[in-house]
Amino acid sequence: MQLDDLLDLAVRAVQESGWIQKEWLGKEKKVELKGEINLVTEVDKRCEERIIEIIKEVSPEHNILTEETPIPEGPSPYRWIIDPIDGTTNYAHGYPCFCTSVALEQEGKIIVGAIYDPMLDELFTARQGKGAFLNGERITVSTTERLTNALICTGFPYDLRESPVNNLDHFNHFIMEAQAVRRDGSAALDLCYVAMGRFDGFWELKLHPWDVAAGKLLVEEAGGTVTNFSGGPFAIYGQEILATNGRIHEEMVGVLQRG
Ligand code: IPD
Ligand code: CA
Ligand code: CA
Repeated sequence: MQLDDLLDLAVRAVQESGWIQKEWLGKEKKVELKGEINLVTEVDKRCEERIIEIIKEVSPEHNILTEETPIPEGPSPYRWIIDPIDGTTNYAHGYPCFCTSVALEQEGKIIVGAIYDPMLDELFTARQGKGAFLNGERITVSTTERLTNALICTGFPYDLRESPVNNLDHFNHFIMEAQAVRRDGSAALDLCYVAMGRFDGFWELKLHPWDVAAGKLLVEEAGGTVTNFSGGPFAIYGQEILATNGRIHEEMVGVLQRG
């Protein structure tokens, strides 16, 4: 299958998932706790089922890594990485900031990414080496040069009550250095917003591959920079992400190094 066909498949999956989310928004739904403050709704599971169905119909041999269901892997070099709802806490409360994220990894490289926000009807797409797009229009990162003029974003891990590695230290530093800091509750959308210039930078720790796989490709294809907190190579299976327009990257690394 060509890169374009693979992206079409990802787009179908995120859009159908988004339509399910819209249909169920505000309706009574079952909500379970995966941890003290970590929710999963029945809509997460419905979306996930539909996405898996769509992918398996076309590429049954590809591996699938998805948030809510462990699926044993075979020898295929391809792995679909799925977050059926990124922003589940928002979704459960009817706060309109959530999306579906689907990426395709081939031998360690993300080659396709699609993220869909059904509330704003915003579809973010990227193919490796072919640029990043919002609803079909090419997007690029912002041109903000200094952290003091930057709107940046972050999030906090679900174990923040138990673990001292909870991002509050970095948050305190950035709130004094940036123009403003947001906490929107959907890491995948945060990355899309860096890619299209609404945000100048984003950092977070303890995210999972499904939170960041598609978004990382979007930021890079939009001309941005994605690394770990010390400016070294980023890994979707790692613990740290710093994604910026490139121009404020060093300044943000400097603040993160204060710990
Ligand atoms: C969460 C969101 C949130 C981030 C959390 C993630 P979920 O994903 O991306 O912004 O701060 O760490 O786990 O649980 O809504 O899929
Ligand atoms: Ca997520
Ligand atoms: Ca999720």
